[in-house]
Amino acid sequence: MASPVPHTFPSHSGTAGTSPGGCPAALGTRAPLDPLDLFDDGFVRDPYPWLDRLRAEAPVHYDPGTGLWLVSRYDEVRRVLLDPTLFRPDNALRAVTPLPVAALRILARAGFTLPPALANNGTPSHPGLRRVVSRFFNAERVAAAIPVIERVAEDLLDAARSEIEATGGCELFSSFAQVLPCRVLMELLGIRGVAPATLIRWSDASLELFWGRPTPDRQLELAELVGEFHQWLTDTVRGDAAPPTSFIGALASHRLPDGEPLDIGTAVAACFFVFIAGQSTTGQLIATVLRRALTEPGLWQHVPGRTGLAEAWVDEVLRREPPVTTWRRVTARSAELGGVRIPDGAQLLLMLMGSGSDPQVFPHPERMRPYRTNVRHHLAFGVGRHRCPGASLARTEAAVALRVAASRLSGVRLEEDRTEPPMLDLLSFRAPLGVTVSR
Ligand code: HEM
Repeated sequence: MASPVPHTFPSHSGTAGTSPGGCPAALGTRAPLDPLDLFDDGFVRDPYPWLDRLRAEAPVHYDPGTGLWLVSRYDEVRRVLLDPTLFRPDNALRAVTPLPVAALRILARAGFTLPPALANNGTPSHPGLRRVVSRFFNAERVAAAIPVIERVAEDLLDAARSEIEATGGCELFSSFAQVLPCRVLMELLGIRGVAPATLIRWSDASLELFWGRPTPDRQLELAELVGEFHQWLTDTVRGDAAPPTSFIGALASHRLPDGEPLDIGTAVAACFFVFIAGQSTTGQLIATVLRRALTEPGLWQHVPGRTGLAEAWVDEVLRREPPVTTWRRVTARSAELGGVRIPDGAQLLLMLMGSGSDPQVFPHPERMRPYRTNVRHHLAFGVGRHRCPGASLARTEAAVALRVAASRLSGVRLEEDRTEPPMLDLLSFRAPLGVTVSR
């Protein structure tokens, strides 16, 4: 664990170097002496002390390590999300670690492009494309999907229970948390012709390639997987096997504002994002929800019998420890934010996780209190024009996962006596990669 107050936290008396869209010293804001490393294991395992100090001392802070402006307070994060004209979404999917030519070649061979479609789309085609997605995940569809989610959860947890009976323990991240959202998404969107394990591998590779800090060799491996994924999506979108009622079928009949059909590249880009966003993030959420529930005194025992407790617990985890920890925006022109002037083209990193621990909005943020009056006011799903259209599905899947796990595996405990599990440590995604339980 990192020390409670990181002694290497940036002070504000030095000057930082200049960079395009950066140069805080020239703009008169406070600049750090020591770099905060957003990928450092200490930060990833225990980011709270850093997030607290950022909010308190440098709520709009230029990070020379990444060239990003970190925005940490709830009010400012919300203001940015609600103004997509000034704070554009165009950089949402840009690779955090620049791709070497060899990796770009691999992607080019697979025909990989990511034209504006959903999260990175600030153009007039966005509302219509978003409607196509939202139709598949509206409240009615999600409510109708509950029996499917329960069936898949029970199926996976029966296997986990047998393993626990046979061996004394089971790892629930890879056997349950990751698989449940993937299988549910495949059913809801009518995805066929690929194994869940392959979809999970492709999706994880995409997250690591675009949001991670992989070595050049690892970038090549990841680019191969992402290329395969993109190629498969392209073949599926081009082929005529998708039923009209499936997501791909709906994209094929979609018309752009000018009446033209969607080009293949944009349809593939929409699928690419939805297939990743629709499962990886929810699997990460379920892993954290389970770990937190297993270590909170009394919670595991009470979840099955208390109506609404699983749902409220999921939202409290989303507030305090969301899987999507940050999200990016770029300024369309110079702007003032939290008393700091930021330049045209500045890349912002919205600290969604930090905003959920803002004591101005959530008193005693460190306490897990599922019955807070504003338990759902967190920004874990964003807000405004690009707010996550899968929020209802993600919440429902995580609550069902917790309820079914707590009732089917009632006597288990978290294996904590050995080392902590590895953490997913990407710029925008964070979660424990293991939930090992035993009798
Ligand atoms: C715990 C799970 C999830 C979290 C924490 C999450 C979080 C987010 C966040 C922070 C955004 C960006 C919002 C913004 O820019 O204002 C987003 C966008 C999006 N999410 Fe999710 N998401 C989750 C699950 C899902 C699921 C299950 C789906 C689909 C089934 C999904 C589909 C999308 C799409 C399509 C967008 C882009 C929307 C747009 O630009 O209009 N997400 N999500």
